[in-house]
Amino acid sequence: MNPAALKGKSLVNLKDWSPEEIEYILELAESTKRSSRNGDVHQRFIGKTLALIFEKRSTRTRCAFETAFGEEGGHPVFLSTQDIQLGSKESVEDTARVLGRMFSAIEFRGFKQATVETLAREAGVPVYNGLTDEYHPTQALADVMTLKEVFGKTKGLKLCFVGDGRNNVARSLAVISSKLGLDYTVISPKELCMDQALLGECEKWSGVSGAKITITDSLDAVAGANALYTDVWVSMGEESRRDERVRLLSPYQVNESLMARTGNSSCVFLHCLPAVKGEEVTVPVIEGTASRVWDQAENRKHTIKALMLATL
Ligand code: CP
Ligand code: NVA
Repeated sequence: MNPAALKGKSLVNLKDWSPEEIEYILELAESTKRSSRNGDVHQRFIGKTLALIFEKRSTRTRCAFETAFGEEGGHPVFLSTQDIQLGSKESVEDTARVLGRMFSAIEFRGFKQATVETLAREAGVPVYNGLTDEYHPTQALADVMTLKEVFGKTKGLKLCFVGDGRNNVARSLAVISSKLGLDYTVISPKELCMDQALLGECEKWSGVSGAKITITDSLDAVAGANALYTDVWVSMGEESRRDERVRLLSPYQVNESLMARTGNSSCVFLHCLPAVKGEEVTVPVIEGTASRVWDQAENRKHTIKALMLATL
């Protein structure tokens, strides 16, 4: 893999990223993390600018992009939809063309995947998906980095996502797992299981990597897991479905009994955060010794910095 080939590349959903390119970002993130721990100071984004468009709220993603870019000498500009014309007076295409003339790169968090794809097509600069209804690819990078730190590898690890199998986090984990050869099991009630179209796409990458992707509604499938992962029952934008979600997902809470059902005392717990403690995960699990959620949150910054270093 030639790192120069990544210059100018966008990250909209990881589907057009090869396993080698993903591994390269993970290695760069590991070295960025080491360097940050050593207190090294670099100024690799001097003279560069980053537009941060947020239609939805964020703590980790915004702060990871903003601090990673700013501490390297770059100038991030936060643009909520209260601030810019996008979505009200101006089309996505026109916004992309204008921002592309002024910024070195654009991050977008919002509702439609089509918006981030249009930005990437029209802007002429790298565009990063900071979460849409369908995908959360920068989260998936931090998640596999965390698994690699804990287990020294990702290939062959059994990662179980327990919860809303249709959501952005579960879907991006399916893409990255099938590219990197994980054994990824999505455990959800039938009403919330991952769509067949995405599974079909994952099959072609799994064929190359040796990944195994399993969809089930049975909690027995946690047996042998190296990591249990969950996410909120109600994603941003779906607040009106709260009652239905609580009803469907209550049996799928990650609690001590489910952790024990893995039969693996070294199984770790992961969550993209923010968490609703007492709903998708209990306090003893998220605050317990198996929890790696704070490392995961920190790794958002290192992987996002690596992504920007590689593509800018
Ligand atoms: N995990 C994640 O994307 O967190 P934020 O919503 O705080 O950005
Ligand atoms: N699935 C969640 C992830 C938050 C980081 C949401 O979209 O709200």
